[in-house]
Amino acid sequence: MPKHLISIHDYSREEILDTLKLAKEFEKNPSRPIFKGKVIASIFFEPSTRTRLSFETAANRLGARVIGFSDAGNTSVTKGESLKDTIKMVSNYADLIVMRHPLEGSARYASEVSSVPVINAGDGANQHPTQTMLDLYSILKTQGKLENLKINIVGDLKYGRTVHSLIQAMSHFSPSFTFISPDELRLPQEYRDFLTTHSITFNESKNLNQGVNEADIIYMTRVQKERFSDPIDYERVKNVYSLNRSMLTSCKENMKILHPLPRVNEIDTDVDNSEHAYYFNQAENGVYTRMAIISALLGVTEL
Ligand code: CP
Repeated sequence: MPKHLISIHDYSREEILDTLKLAKEFEKNPSRPIFKGKVIASIFFEPSTRTRLSFETAANRLGARVIGFSDAGNTSVTKGESLKDTIKMVSNYADLIVMRHPLEGSARYASEVSSVPVINAGDGANQHPTQTMLDLYSILKTQGKLENLKINIVGDLKYGRTVHSLIQAMSHFSPSFTFISPDELRLPQEYRDFLTTHSITFNESKNLNQGVNEADIIYMTRVQKERFSDPIDYERVKNVYSLNRSMLTSCKENMKILHPLPRVNEIDTDVDNSEHAYYFNQAENGVYTRMAIISALLGVTEL
């Protein structure tokens, strides 16, 4: 296994599958205090509910102690301390660092100055590889396979870092994608080029109903308000899609709706009780996959 998890590209197909296998073992028995005496730093320079709390739950279930902050406003960053110095200090205290930061590339930079493994818990609009691992786990669990699935990805394909990581990870498994977004939030060219280079089939549409009845997975995303430089641009697209129950009457039985969450209004609450809704279970899967990721980076790949 690589020393850090910064981009989903850091893991090969086999390493991804090994991580999912380990996560399954943790799901069978989540109470495994194999890292008693270890300290995990959870440092979040950007807001989070699921990622931070599921990482901290994972660390606790592994028997490690957790240090860190959820608001950099209470740290010496406010006195002008650089990210480099902050990471050097934290890596003196902890055995592993989980970091979320608004700047793209900040996690890679942190891994270069840290003496301990770094996990990227989201760097700007770039990558969110641990979310992708739990997305893959959720897909595998609900579909029984990762190969040859039809996946609709809807919403903010420009700024949605979970989308970028997921596309790259799924490229190992011959998916067929339908990307649904307004022009302003279209999937960036570099990701379209990536798919073309890897001979992955995809089409693009602005219509939320496009391919709904053929899809195995519908992956909804929130419009990422915090990434817009002009609030007027956000206002224009913020309510562009809302999936509701009436749209699901003819979809495939196995189809599951995923969403990295938080949801704003892109999935109507009338979908929550549908057999197709899986987003809250998906978030729970984050604990098992993050236990597996922490374990592997601390040297335990089999239980
Ligand atoms: N999915 C996700 O990253 O959620 P949080 O922002 O709440 O961590």
